[in-house]
Amino acid sequence: SSPLGAEGLIFLIGYMGCGKSTKAKQLAHRLECPVVDLDAEIVAKSGKTIAEYFAEFGEDGFRNYESEMLKTFDYPKTCVIATGGGLPCFFDNMDWMNANGETVYLQMEPAALVSRLHNRQKRPLIKDLDDEQLLDFIKVKLQEREPFYTKAKVIVDAFDLDAEQLEEAIRKKN
Ligand code: S3P
Repeated sequence: SSPLGAEGLIFLIGYMGCGKSTKAKQLAHRLECPVVDLDAEIVAKSGKTIAEYFAEFGEDGFRNYESEMLKTFDYPKTCVIATGGGLPCFFDNMDWMNANGETVYLQMEPAALVSRLHNRQKRPLIKDLDDEQLLDFIKVKLQEREPFYTKAKVIVDAFDLDAEQLEEAIRKKN
């Protein structure tokens, strides 16, 4: 059945700062279903912050763990899932999400992402970058990642998008 009908998983994907966690909460509230934040689940289950996890196990270790979390989590029948920004771009995670639910890419321009990424300290990949460096970094990273992100079933312009518009965009596609 449709994710906005009886039941289903809705995965929100996109770059750091595009608003996945916030939008997931808002959408879940509208749909009256639970929200799952996979980064938060990693922190809860490992007992480490994302930064600590990277420091201890490196990016490869983190990618393995987040991928395992994605595929083994005991999801409620219907829920909205916020994913980590890199998750769709490793292993077959994007295909796995497409096979198991609705996927929504929250697309946003690099400059907008920079202006929204205030709390860089908790994000190991960008913690030492100033605004200018971050803009260049995001441009390069987005080129690498867009081929994965754009496999999403629904692609929305996430700038100034509210939860009602997000729900509408998903509904329209189904
Ligand atoms: C990452 C994004 C982060 C987190 C980790 C790596 C990435 O999640 O998983 O720091 O590679 O883009 P958010 O997108 O929720 O910040």
